[in-house]
Amino acid sequence: MIDLNMKSNLIQKAIEARNNAYAPYSGYLVGAALLCEDGSIYTGCNVENASYGATNCAERTAVFKAVSEGRQQFSAIAIAGGRKTDMEKDMALDYAFPCGICRQVLREFSDPEKMIVLVCKSTEDYKEMTLEQLLPESFGPANLE
Ligand code: THU
Repeated sequence: MIDLNMKSNLIQKAIEARNNAYAPYSGYLVGAALLCEDGSIYTGCNVENASYGATNCAERTAVFKAVSEGRQQFSAIAIAGGRKTDMEKDMALDYAFPCGICRQVLREFSDPEKMIVLVCKSTEDYKEMTLEQLLPESFGPANLE
């Protein structure tokens, strides 16, 4: 369970992380803030590449930062995304749902029934769901034990 304060905190951090997005090709800027089971938080942004397939999504940037720092169990992630050209308008952000690859990567390090995903336009305007809702009947580490 995560409380409202923590949700706002994660959302704010995701919106801030979006400022670092490197997205000259798509113009779609994404930030993410990942809460680990020990309370630590890692942020990430999308990092595009001239060779488009080398692009990394914001969510995976955050996950790989966390895992490389020794965290392997996650409780929640906030995601804030939207087109750069919309930034000056009121609704700069979409509800940016995580792509399929990011859903599977999150699955590796969380209990899908407990993992909370927040897709955010602001601290007041967001959608909340579990990873199980986004990736039902998933394949995970236990299948290989
Ligand atoms: N993107 C993310 O960062 N996260 C997602 O879950 C969906 C897509 C990025 C990848 C690319 O840089 C841009 O958004 C457009 O696809």
